[in-house]
Amino acid sequence: EENLNYFIHTYGCQMNIHDSEKLAGMLEKLGYRETQDDTLADVIVFNTCCIRESAEQKIYGNIGALKGIKKNKKDLIIAVCGCMSQQDGVADNIKSKFPFVNIVFGTHNVHMFEEYLQKHLASKKKVYDVWESEGQVVENIPAFRTSGYNGWVNIMYGCNNFCSYCIVPYVRGRERSRKMCEILKEVKGLVDDGYKTITLLGQNVNSYGNDFDDDTNFAKLLTEICKIKGNFRVKFMTSHPKDLTDEVIEVIAREDKISKTIHLPVQSGSNSILKAMNRRYTVEHYKGLIDKIKAAIPNVSLTTDLIVAFPGETEEDFEQTLDLVKYCKYTSIFGFMYSKRRGTVAEKMDGHLPITVKRERVNKLLNLSKEIGKQVTENMIGKTYEILTYTEKGKIIGKTECGKTVEITNLTDDIKAGEFYNVLLKSFKSNKLYGKII
Ligand code: 5AD
Ligand code: SF4
Repeated sequence: EENLNYFIHTYGCQMNIHDSEKLAGMLEKLGYRETQDDTLADVIVFNTCCIRESAEQKIYGNIGALKGIKKNKKDLIIAVCGCMSQQDGVADNIKSKFPFVNIVFGTHNVHMFEEYLQKHLASKKKVYDVWESEGQVVENIPAFRTSGYNGWVNIMYGCNNFCSYCIVPYVRGRERSRKMCEILKEVKGLVDDGYKTITLLGQNVNSYGNDFDDDTNFAKLLTEICKIKGNFRVKFMTSHPKDLTDEVIEVIAREDKISKTIHLPVQSGSNSILKAMNRRYTVEHYKGLIDKIKAAIPNVSLTTDLIVAFPGETEEDFEQTLDLVKYCKYTSIFGFMYSKRRGTVAEKMDGHLPITVKRERVNKLLNLSKEIGKQVTENMIGKTYEILTYTEKGKIIGKTECGKTVEITNLTDDIKAGEFYNVLLKSFKSNKLYGKII
């Protein structure tokens, strides 16, 4: 019997990467196997993102490119799902612009894919089903994991924050936490299977448990996860600065299993822009958090997200963002040009800025962040860090918790891939760290 193959195009964030592992899990269950070559695929899935306009344009282009292939390969099944298809009107748009797409569904019914595919195979008819709102949390979707030593684990879905620029609350629904016992069971299984890092996923992990009647919260969840036996590290994303509690900072500082890299998106360094963004904290509060974190966790590595050229952002507001970046000394920064999103509050604000201003500001920000990132890395020299080892092109290399590659200068046959080692960092040359296992 001939093998049936699948290919999944994944766009956007870690949440989507993990959703694609669930889509792959359902395909594997039905007997399909992954192919690296989409021309050999019997099923092609587009798991989409709509966080910025640039993502959407790219996706529409890539779907359109399949028109010709589909003509010569009538049995090819094309499915589109994820955040873009969850938006109002997009399914209709796909139906008229790309009539060769067979299956469309949204973020709330990812777990239904298996059923949709079987329905299509049986009827050869289009299956379009986008749910208007989120249902209950669905458990036991088999994931076909593809991220090496890292296991992604959802701890909550959705977002209640409605930052004025952001489309996520409209396409991912309101916050729903997974039960702690389900999360612990999944983490334990992954650790038993040999996963070395567990990355907890949520749009705002710090509000984990807010939708429960009891006193479950993120600090408690972290503490319980760290009690699981085994040599593994815990990461999480994303944290909202308004909800990051002292208790969570204490747990991160106390527990050896928790990664000392913290992603804390600030979005802007100007109080008036933060207010317009509906972020509900001030620059002073954020700086206070950074001070607290640095005092509690020596060797901490900080990363952030920033949006430049939000509607109404003045040169002065932007300068304040650059000042904040200098103050926080981030290891790395994800800087984005503001992108207008349909249905958000910011869409209707005055003062939208031209693309020239957006480009100029994002370039300035990225240049500064490169410079600071380099200083931060140089500051790591002479200190000891933990690395996880990987095999890359037949050779063992290390990666720090903050994601930097380390060349091991004293490699021996005893050093295995997939293990944690402490290295003393010796030098930093052409973007690579060199260190000695101690
Ligand atoms: N335009 C630009 N960047 C955005 N982000 C979210 N929405 C937008 C938008 N409309 C950025 C934020 C967020 C990251 C995931 O994407 O910085 O933290
Ligand atoms: Fe979007 Fe804000 Fe929710 Fe993050 S916290 S997903 S930026 S609305």
